[in-house]
Amino acid sequence: MEEGSLITYKNLSGPIAVQLELTPRCNNVCNYCYNSWRGNKDSEKELDLKEYMAIAKKLVKDEVFEVVLTGGEPLLRKDIVYPLADYFSKNGLKVGLNTNLTLLTQEDCDKIKDSNITRILGSLSSFDKEIYNKITQTKNYERALDGIELLVRNNIALGINMVVKQENKHQVYDTGKFVFGLGVNVFCGTPATPSEFLNSKEELTPKEIINTLDDLLRLKKEYGMFVDILEPLPRCIFKDAEKYEPFLKRDCGAGKITAVISSSGDVKPCTHVPKKYGNLLEKDLSEIWENMGEWRDGSFMPRECGNCNENSYCSMGCRESSKLKTNKYNNLDPWSDPDNIGERKVQSESIVVLPDETYRIYSNLMFRDELGGKLIYSPKTMTLGLINNDFFNFLTKLHKEKNFKVRDVLQEYGENSINLIKYLKSKTFIKKIREG
Ligand SMILES: C[S@@+](CC[C@H](N)C(=O)[O-])C[C@H]1O[C@@H](n2cnc3c(N)ncnc32)[C@H](O)[C@@H]1O
Ligand code: SF4
Ligand code: SF4
Repeated sequence: MEEGSLITYKNLSGPIAVQLELTPRCNNVCNYCYNSWRGNKDSEKELDLKEYMAIAKKLVKDEVFEVVLTGGEPLLRKDIVYPLADYFSKNGLKVGLNTNLTLLTQEDCDKIKDSNITRILGSLSSFDKEIYNKITQTKNYERALDGIELLVRNNIALGINMVVKQENKHQVYDTGKFVFGLGVNVFCGTPATPSEFLNSKEELTPKEIINTLDDLLRLKKEYGMFVDILEPLPRCIFKDAEKYEPFLKRDCGAGKITAVISSSGDVKPCTHVPKKYGNLLEKDLSEIWENMGEWRDGSFMPRECGNCNENSYCSMGCRESSKLKTNKYNNLDPWSDPDNIGERKVQSESIVVLPDETYRIYSNLMFRDELGGKLIYSPKTMTLGLINNDFFNFLTKLHKEKNFKVRDVLQEYGENSINLIKYLKSKTFIKKIREG
């Protein structure tokens, strides 16, 4: 069972998570924003609710697990945000909302709850009013804080994303601490991804990215905050990858597991990628997904990564950044430095499973049939696995037993089954109940 237990993303029938850009318009003008169409209001049309419902039906039919409503600023389309969220959640999809927080009212909070939007990611570029207003090119600071306060008061799960660039790089720790003081425990300090609209002098250097991550780790240590970054980093940005392992779990899902639908219905692999692969009002998702095959067939893998001994669990950074900087998708991410890899230990060695430990499979895992096996998704940790049918049967049996002791599993299924348990643990599909 061990050999070939995992199947590849290459043949995945469709995305598992989709972002819907409900509008190209925004009431902020963040100077880091990748949103290429924001200055040109005529460049993208906006769909009405009827057109969006036609798209939503296709996403439900193709068993997408999760939808994020984004933009531009999605709360400029309150007419469609809530009916869409309601439709998706009633059909079993998880629904998230990305917002700049400045347009929220009590009525929105009620509708967020009623339509079952379970994750809100709000943007806050600084705790400092002057810097916030400078970066967003507005006077919206107080409105953003009001938005945070409203969500917290209404007990709505909120995470804050601070996009980090030269202007605010010294404020990561203080912004996290400030946000914690407002009652928010989830904080992301995402290094600004290079974009056509971001002056390259404003980008962080690898050293400054590491400083940002150190600030996040300090917030975790001092306040117990959940900290993260929202874009994939190449592992070789670090000499000491082990210390930063929590920030390396994020794979680049573009066109592999995720897709984005623009405000006119065009499908792209990622919000940062301008290339369109078909319109969802005209074609089925599966056909457009097929057109996007170049994102998952390995053709964008940099030559240097082919020989790297960490490539099986490295995101290889951002393909769109490589394209932007070198005009090629299959060149190294600009933050990569393969010399850092050296002789360091590989991550898989650090996953330890002991015979006397007892584990349980998370009950909220989601499954979808795929060619040769099953796709598993954990909405709690947002991790994904692809396993063959033998592995799935093994998992189902363990699940029926509720709690399982590793020693008993090894006795019943053989010593090699330890690797399957390690895999489940690495993906956080199982949790440890007892040491022994
Ligand atoms: C384009 S915004 C749209 C939703 C909403 N207007 C907001 O600001 O949250 C989606 C997310 O992308 C992030 N973002 C924008 N530009 C970015 C960049 N250059 N690099 C990384 N993240 C970026 C924003 O902070 C936000 O969390
Ligand atoms: S990051 Fe969000 S709030 Fe800022 S300009 Fe872009 S879409 Fe608007
Ligand atoms: S060389 Fe490539 S695969 Fe290896 S760590 Fe760097 S980006 Fe990842």
